[in-house]
Amino acid sequence: MIKRGELYYPTEEFKKNAWVSDPKIYKEAAKDPVKFWEKLAKDLFWFKLWKKGFIHKPPNFQWFAGGKINITANIFEKDWVVKKDKIALIWEPESLNEKSKVFTYQELFKEVCKCANHLKGLGVKKGDRVGIYLPMIPEVVIAMLACARIGAVHSVVFSAFSPNALKVRLQDTGAKVLITADSYYRRGQLINLFKNVEESIKGTKVKKLIVVERSNKAPWHKEDDFCKAVFMDSEDLQFILYTSGSTGKPKGCMHACGGYSVQAYWTGRYIFDFHEDDVFWCTSDPGWITGHTYTIYSPLMNGIATLMFEGVPDFPTPDRWAQIIEKYGVTVFYTAPTAIRMFEKYGEDIIKKYQFKKLRLLGTVGEPIDESAWLWYYKNVGKEKCPIVDTWWQTETGGILLTSLPGLGPFKPAFTGLPFPGVKTEIRDGQNGKHGNLVILPPFAPSLLRGIYHNPEKYLETYWSQYGKKVYFTSDGAIMDEHGLIRVIGRVDDVIKVAGHRISTGEMEAAVNDHPEISECAVVGIPDKIKGEVPVTFVIYKGARPVEEIKREVIAQIQKGIGPIALPKEIYLVEDLPKTRSGKIMRRILRKLFTGEELGDLSTLANPESVDKIKKLIYG
Ligand code: WT7
Repeated sequence: MIKRGELYYPTEEFKKNAWVSDPKIYKEAAKDPVKFWEKLAKDLFWFKLWKKGFIHKPPNFQWFAGGKINITANIFEKDWVVKKDKIALIWEPESLNEKSKVFTYQELFKEVCKCANHLKGLGVKKGDRVGIYLPMIPEVVIAMLACARIGAVHSVVFSAFSPNALKVRLQDTGAKVLITADSYYRRGQLINLFKNVEESIKGTKVKKLIVVERSNKAPWHKEDDFCKAVFMDSEDLQFILYTSGSTGKPKGCMHACGGYSVQAYWTGRYIFDFHEDDVFWCTSDPGWITGHTYTIYSPLMNGIATLMFEGVPDFPTPDRWAQIIEKYGVTVFYTAPTAIRMFEKYGEDIIKKYQFKKLRLLGTVGEPIDESAWLWYYKNVGKEKCPIVDTWWQTETGGILLTSLPGLGPFKPAFTGLPFPGVKTEIRDGQNGKHGNLVILPPFAPSLLRGIYHNPEKYLETYWSQYGKKVYFTSDGAIMDEHGLIRVIGRVDDVIKVAGHRISTGEMEAAVNDHPEISECAVVGIPDKIKGEVPVTFVIYKGARPVEEIKREVIAQIQKGIGPIALPKEIYLVEDLPKTRSGKIMRRILRKLFTGEELGDLSTLANPESVDKIKKLIYG
């Protein structure tokens, strides 16, 4: 029976085989979190064990200092005999007329080594940054692991980001090599990815391009198929991944080899309950952190099969995702609430014929899930027998930090759950610790970011200044219920989550303001039934050209600066924007015009009349 506001628990059968089924793990971890993580870390394969578990020199910290590790040795060399003929990667192309590709661990290893040798041949060395601009094809996995194999630092840029967005990121990393592809399929169309790449690398340090041709052999196919793993220090850079913050410029989150490996491995095992025969499908593109950690590193470190699908879940038919789950016998499925709301919209009839017999666990990530989407997922996909783990984390945290553990529960619709064992959080500033800003306390988590590339000031300012240098500020608002379960409500900064994608309204504004005839604009996120949030743009335009023309140009600006994921739902050309007397644009008021919330006292504005005019423009 499904009821609203209820707590849910795993079935006895699930519990029986779960890695964690005794809640005492929380107490044990809380007693000495560093010791807890050290115990977990010992299960990995280290070339040399660490000297010290955790070192804290606020705001900087280290995990497993002195240890030597390579994440690919934990994927391939560790338990090699058991794994080598098991399936590592299943790739399903978008087109139903094309064949899928399956790689065993041994086959994947050979590809990774070839690519690594190819990179070495181009002069790539430990510590060098390598840009990766690839769609969802097996080569993205191979390229990332090849970098990790030789200690190069990959920086993956989501393939739907614009060439301009790619340029900005390449410039920041100083990468000399870029791995990209000619094309890929999206909703039946062949998208030419390479078209703009040459333009993007102008003004960057990129000297060498490796171009994967989608229907040809990989450019590294003639290389030697063995390459030794480079020994990495725990605190060496594993990768850089850019993410959006309050200000216009994206931030390069720096992740460290030792801590990231430990967290990727153990969160997979404990939260997705990875067992030998699992087939895991995380729908995220490797261009996002979810793809890094849970499409690639975590399942592969755990020796299970990971599935990657080139296309979108509802193409060519709305049940494509259901077909894939059945075709490959997916056992654990991890996706974003937006996708679930989309399945829900298509209706139950479409998936009635699917039994999902092999599915045993479900997960969600990326944005708050509402109770109704949660219940739909539980009933129609999980068939009321699969636990749902709602996982909260960020590009910055590298791995999951908040969730219910599947063998324990409780699962409460719209609540993510408890901090992962060994993670200490607090809710600050609110009413008695139940409502306010979510923060993370020492020793944080092994996978928390170590810095923003080339920008220690920004690192300090963004994460370690609101509550002092010893407290990590998440920029999320949260509430806690009477059981201590946490619900993450959303960002308290100028970041919005559009279909689970993280977008900075500041970055959008900067792109629009680049237009020669636009002097000022404001972007706000407004609620959307499917995507959670969508951006709308207000533009001050005082010229005489046709409105539609300007709107088209605004769209082009955003397309050029960021890419199609940030396109606004609506653009309003206005004479004036509501401002405080000191000239600050009141975005909060603009947002409230769509949510129906009270606007509050407008008399303190410099131009209260602007609000009425905008209201008329929106509602007629
Ligand atoms: C932001 C981070 C974590 C990987 C994907 C997103 C929001 C993430 C949840 C959740 C409510 C969530 C937060 C967070 N968020 N997961 N389960 N419930 N909100 O990584 O793109 O860096 O975005 O996503 O607002 O700060 P990201």
